[in-house]
Amino acid sequence: MIALGCDHGGFSLMKEVIAYLEKNNIEYKNFGCYDESSVDYPVYAKAVAHAVADGECDKGILICGTGIGISIAANKVKGIRCALCTDCFSAEATRQHNDANILAMGGRVVGPGLAVKIVDTFLNTPFSNDERHIRRISMIE
Ligand code: RB5
Repeated sequence: MIALGCDHGGFSLMKEVIAYLEKNNIEYKNFGCYDESSVDYPVYAKAVAHAVADGECDKGILICGTGIGISIAANKVKGIRCALCTDCFSAEATRQHNDANILAMGGRVVGPGLAVKIVDTFLNTPFSNDERHIRRISMIE
């Protein structure tokens, strides 16, 4: 189950992400927002971060205008490793090395084609389970 959250700056791109998830029969829970009215991104960051940290959802996807504010907010929640990605290399590496559990993107930064590839990479790349990466993650916690 994938937790989704966005603000007005990410709403349009989130529609593309939802289309990708539905096409691939990937279950999701949408924590909003639900239209382009101006909202506060920390509300959605916290909802998604808690859903992932509490085990209700396996991973999360957060989108605001830049991806910056929403990722900063999500990373305040214990157990969350939210990675802001603008390319597929980073999406792959953050799963392999950081075991990132939330992907953040900027709706005003990446186009829909690239964003869907980033999501696909993030969701389909396993953690490496390498001892050095486990050690470094435990040092963060
Ligand atoms: C909203 O205008 C914008 O500030 C927000 O979407 C995000 O980019 C914040 O980091």
